[in-house]
This record gives sequence, structure tokens and C-alpha cells, in this order.
Amino acid sequence: MTATGSTASERLLVVDDESAQMKALCHTLEQEGYQVSGYTSALQALEVVGRGERFDLLITDLMMPEMDGIALLKEVRARDDDLVGVVMTGHGSIGTAIDAMKAGALDYILKPFRLSTMLPVLDRALGVRRLRIENAELQRSVQRHAAELEVANKELEAFSYSVSHDLRAPLRAVTGFSQILLEDHAAELSEEARRHLDTVAGSAQRMEHLIADLLEFSRFSRQPLSKQPVSLSGLVEAVLAELRQAQPEREVQLKIGELPQCSADPSLLRQVYTNLLSNAFKFTGHSKPAQIEVGSRMEGNDLVCFVRDNGAGFDMKYAEKLFGVFQRMHRAEEFEGTGIGLSIVHRIVHRHGGRIWAEAESGKGAAFYFTLPK
Ligand SMILES: Nc1ncnc2c1ncn2[C@@H]1O[C@H](COP(=O)(O)OP(=O)(O)OP(=O)(O)O)[C@@H](O)[C@H]1O
Ligand SMILES: [Mg+2]
Repeated sequence: MTATGSTASERLLVVDDESAQMKALCHTLEQEGYQVSGYTSALQALEVVGRGERFDLLITDLMMPEMDGIALLKEVRARDDDLVGVVMTGHGSIGTAIDAMKAGALDYILKPFRLSTMLPVLDRALGVRRLRIENAELQRSVQRHAAELEVANKELEAFSYSVSHDLRAPLRAVTGFSQILLEDHAAELSEEARRHLDTVAGSAQRMEHLIADLLEFSRFSRQPLSKQPVSLSGLVEAVLAELRQAQPEREVQLKIGELPQCSADPSLLRQVYTNLLSNAFKFTGHSKPAQIEVGSRMEGNDLVCFVRDNGAGFDMKYAEKLFGVFQRMHRAEEFEGTGIGLSIVHRIVHRHGGRIWAEAESGKGAAFYFTLPK
């Protein structure tokens, strides 16, 4: 925005200990359409401001007996920091005028004044004031929106939680009664009816899995973050031990590289590695030998962590989609799963202020990278 011309509503406070000069200036400015109050004493001016009278612009002489212009400007701005100040000075004391600008004055005008040079200075100062006020209002509105967004997010999370929760009860009835029909009334059902009922029971069970995963996603999204020093190597070892125990028959060649201390929420970070490593285990199911590498490196202020495997991989065309809820690249008959693991990882990494991405090639393996700010 550029400064517009003077408007009648703008209030100027003029302070100059030389009475004739002060009066002449007030008169000129009034003729220009400003509302002007003039004083020959800084203390008097302060008293008026102290009584709560508001001004937009202070025009003050620099050298005055009781209080100089710089001190006056500071005092006035301490009461109303939207107010802007312009100082008046003679040719001999431009140095002081510069000091005044360092102390918060926006500009200076040289005595004796020429209207044609003075008015643009005042106009500019008032323009700056308007910009400052608009800026502060904008900042308040951004903060307000952020707070509203936060509330909306919380509500959405609570909603998805309660919906998934409430969906479970009727679903259990579907599963339960299909089961009863299949077990206790099989003789009364035709072959075709039994097949249909099997499909109903199977679908209901699958939906139960989806809901359980959705609830888990919601739980990890809402759990408060508690950052502390974490030993990455200890954490990764623990997750690997768990995975090996769950599938003792799997033969996997592990390569563990640099895993330093970092700052993170330990239980959430553990979930990140559990999901990435269980994917690596799962998608190397058909690779002989299966190879998984875990490591990290520093890049600027970020610790870049990675989990790499030589498994099924995927087409990079869909790489961005993978981090969404229920997004899968492989058919359930080939590799089981519901597609929630990576969306939880994505959420946790983002909540730590990090980024996540993948590199892969169909049939050749995949690598997942995420950053943790140092
Ligand atoms: N290491 C990997 N190698 C190849 N594809 C992967 C790998 N990790 C993930 N993907 C692809 O990304 C999809 C989403 O992964 P995600 O972990 O979210 O789901 P999932 O493993 O299928 O199921 P869930 O984790 O919920 O049990 C996978 O279905 C798979 O297509
Ligand atoms: Mg997974």
C-alpha cells in the first residue's frame, strides 16, 4: 500500500518550545486538513497523552529545555506504540536527527520548513503507521486462524475416533451372526447360501481390521509428543529382535550402519522403525537372499535415517501416494496388509518436524528416508 493523501481524521501532536514557530506550524497543518494540537513544552504534551488523548503522529523539536525530542518520543511511544514520530531540526544538528531516528523516529524535517518538502515526510510517516497497524491485524488474524485450525483438527480426530469406535458394534453383530448361521444352521442352508455367507463373514472381518488400523492411526496422531535423547541403535536393535522373534523361519541378511543418539519421542520413533522394518521384512518375502540395511547420515542440521531392502520394490510413479491412509501398491494376496503403516510413519515424522520420502524400483527393492531435525 502506498501512503494516501492526508485525511481529516489524522491527529498530529506538535511540540516546539519556540511558541511562534509552533503556532505557525499548527496553523499550516490545520489548513492542510489535519487535526493538530500544539504545545511549547514536552511535559505538557506528555500530560495530555497521559490523560489518554490519542495521536497518530508526533512532530517534535529536538532541543528543548525540560525534555529533548528523543526522550519525549520514547515516552509517548511507550504509551502507544502505533504512534509514529518525526523530529524537527536545524541544519547544524543533522547528527542528532540521525540519533533520533535510531531511537525510533521515522524521519526528520529540516528547519526552516518548506511545505512542499515537509508534507510528503508526514504523509510517509502516517502511511508507515497505517501499514504497521494493518500488519499487526494481519498477524493477529493468522494466529486466530491457526488456533481455529488446531481446534478443527482436534475435532476431526475425535470424530474419526468415535466413528470408527461406533462402527465396531454393528460390525461385530454381522460377524457374530454370520458365524452362528454358518455353524448352527449349516444344514438348513444351500451350498450357494453358505458361500454367500462366507463372503459376508470374510468382508466383515476385513472391515474390522481396517477399523482397528484406523483407530491406531488416530491414536498415534493424537498421542502428545515427548522429545528426549534416544539411542537409535538401541531402538533399532529392539525392533529387529521383535521382528525376528515373530518370524524365526525367515532368513534375512542385516546390515546396520551408523545410528547415533538423536532427539525424538522414543515410543513414536519406535513405531516408525517397527512399520518401516516390518515392511522391509514383508516385501523381501520372495527375495533370496533377503537383504535389509539400516543407517543414517548427517546432512546440514538434519539426521537423515534410512531403511533399505532388496524386496519387491514399486513403481516410483505412485511413490507420493504411499503415505496416505489405506494406499497400497501390492495386492493383498501377494503381500498382506491394510496400508496404514506408512501413513502412521508419515504423521510421526512430520510431527517431529522432519520429512519423509522413498526411492524404489519395481522388482529391485525400496529405500525409505526420513529426517529428524538435530
Ligand atoms: N519396503 C517396501 N517395499 C515395497 N513396497 C513397499 C515397501 N514399503 C511399503 N511399500 C508399499 O507401500 C504400501 C503401503 O505401505 P504400508 O506400510 O502403509 O501398508 P501395508 O504394509 O500394506 O499394510 P500395514 O502396514 O497397514 O500392515 C504397501 O502396501 C506397499 O505397496
Ligand atoms: Mg506396512
